[in-house]
Amino acid sequence: MLCLFLLLTILGNNLHHATMQILELYIICILIFLLHFYRFDRDLRWRTGVNIVPIHCNSSNNFQITPQALQAAYEEAQSMNMKVSGVLITNPSNPLGITIQRSVLEEILDFVTEKNIHLISDEIYSGSVFSSNEFVSVAEILEARSYKGAERVHIVYSLSKDLGLPGFRVGTVYSYNDKVVTTARRMSSFTLISSQTQQFLANMLSDKEFTEKYININRERLKKRYEMIVEGLRSVGIECLKGNAGLFCWMNMSPLLKETSKEGELELWNEILKEVRLNISPGCSCHCSEAGWFRVCFANMSEQTLEIALDRIRKFMAKRIRTKKE
Ligand SMILES: Cc1ncc(COP(=O)(O)O)c(C=O)c1O
Repeated sequence: MLCLFLLLTILGNNLHHATMQILELYIICILIFLLHFYRFDRDLRWRTGVNIVPIHCNSSNNFQITPQALQAAYEEAQSMNMKVSGVLITNPSNPLGITIQRSVLEEILDFVTEKNIHLISDEIYSGSVFSSNEFVSVAEILEARSYKGAERVHIVYSLSKDLGLPGFRVGTVYSYNDKVVTTARRMSSFTLISSQTQQFLANMLSDKEFTEKYININRERLKKRYEMIVEGLRSVGIECLKGNAGLFCWMNMSPLLKETSKEGELELWNEILKEVRLNISPGCSCHCSEAGWFRVCFANMSEQTLEIALDRIRKFMAKRIRTKKE
């Protein structure tokens, strides 16, 4: 067994592409957990030709992956004559803003072991968990299993989110598979990171006092923002999935749909875009099969801008209630 950190450029999405390419020998189809967004479709499919089959999750169990959902996606792929080669999860999840529970990770690992396929875990938001439910990496599950079957697991990370350094174009693949590590090392020579960037990052990341302080302050701020938006939305009757990580929340606008369908969801998205001037991602762009869910980003703007956005949503909701009464 071999574990190794590899530095690759062009970050998260390119890392997915690289990981797919490295696994190319085996991959024909990949099962994918609710994933924001079309960029993944583009980065995973266009360049590697890999097929994506969504694992359908729903609000009845807070969108957690179940063995049944995994099996259903697997069978769906098979019915289309696709050979399934892996499962891709994001933990913490984008778009849900939640971490995947330990028991669910255990089930996913059991599933990929039973099917003899790969597991790619995108843990790009692992340092942005801001409340009680702690983040569990698939690496911890493997450790508890004495690394049995670890060679099928590959973890992807980048500095874009937790450290707010998307411009540095630095990411890592952490794999337990000798073949993957060797190929990735060879491929990384095409996407090298400048020595200045490496030196800067080495200095920054080895400063333990700084990194601890940074992560703690980041978490406190994310928590504050999250509470601000969730409370603001609740006060106008919009509920969100209880989140604990990431830069976004998963908002339930289904009561506002004129028609419970993808078309109804896109109609509402269009109304919000035109009337409220807010672009919130519709669930269907993340392969969500339950209509009416939207992803709202709360961390990429100032508190003042967030207040303006909330105020506009309040007015939109008040107008909706008035027209309903008339
Ligand atoms: C789960 C996840 N992985 C990867 C990426 C890509 O990261 P980057 O923008 O650094 O390429 C994103 C970006 O939003 C993401 O949400």
